[in-house]
Amino acid sequence: MSRYAATLSPLLGIMTAAARKAALGVLRDFREVSQLQVSKKGPADFVTSADKRADEVLREELSRARPDYGFLTEEGETIEGADSEHCWIIDPIDGTLNFLHSLPSFAISMALTYRGDVVCGVTYDPVLDEIFYAEKGKGAYLNDKRMRVSARVSMEEALIAAASSGFARPERERFFRETEAVSSKAAGLRSSGCASLNLSYVAAGRFDGYWERHLQAWDIAAGIVLLREAGGIVSEPNGGDKMLESGAILAANPRLHRLLAEVLRETHT
Ligand code: IPD
Ligand code: CA
Ligand code: CA
Repeated sequence: MSRYAATLSPLLGIMTAAARKAALGVLRDFREVSQLQVSKKGPADFVTSADKRADEVLREELSRARPDYGFLTEEGETIEGADSEHCWIIDPIDGTLNFLHSLPSFAISMALTYRGDVVCGVTYDPVLDEIFYAEKGKGAYLNDKRMRVSARVSMEEALIAAASSGFARPERERFFRETEAVSSKAAGLRSSGCASLNLSYVAAGRFDGYWERHLQAWDIAAGIVLLREAGGIVSEPNGGDKMLESGAILAANPRLHRLLAEVLRETHT
């Protein structure tokens, strides 16, 4: 049986095929990285080159299919395409720190924007062979099944994901205040260590909500369309809608989005 929903649009077909192709090398490199743990200088450099190799495969596949589209990727040069309205946003390996530590929670994540709006997103976890994909107006899927955000409506039963990569002191303090407030109300607090998977898990109803700041567009672009198409709400933690620009995100099912935004806001007053 097909691993995909009955009709995969041409764009999603291109993106999912590119993700699967890049995954072959990423998985090979992941197996190798565990062998490098014993060497002091080995793993970090190796992971950087694994990132670059995956980036090249994705660029090659996507530009062969749509030669005129631009690129914004973590590992390579930003390219303004001849078609200035379309841009691929790519994180070839999201969750590099997990990858480096042989933790099997990382993803290949990519999105397509049209006039700045995310219209397609794909996040692929090659270890579990889980592919999360969505196109604006056409629903969100995990492998061949439609996905929806969770139906949980109370904080007491909610499993929330949070992370902070802001190392500046005021940022750390804000994050600690927020996590204290949320964890005192929620059933639990987690992070996969991979922003794109945290977002995919909210879209799939595994996590009920997630917030993080100081991310980059490539960490969250795919998740934005996945969330919206799965019936969730995605915004900045303060309610704004400039997530791609600010890198700050709050994603949840509609009810918990309201509750979480409230709890976060209260920690600042
Ligand atoms: C990181 C991951 C992580 C998040 C960091 C990101 P990378 O991306 O998404 O979950 O907390 O802020 O930088 O470096 O592994 O691609
Ligand atoms: Ca990333
Ligand atoms: Ca990365």
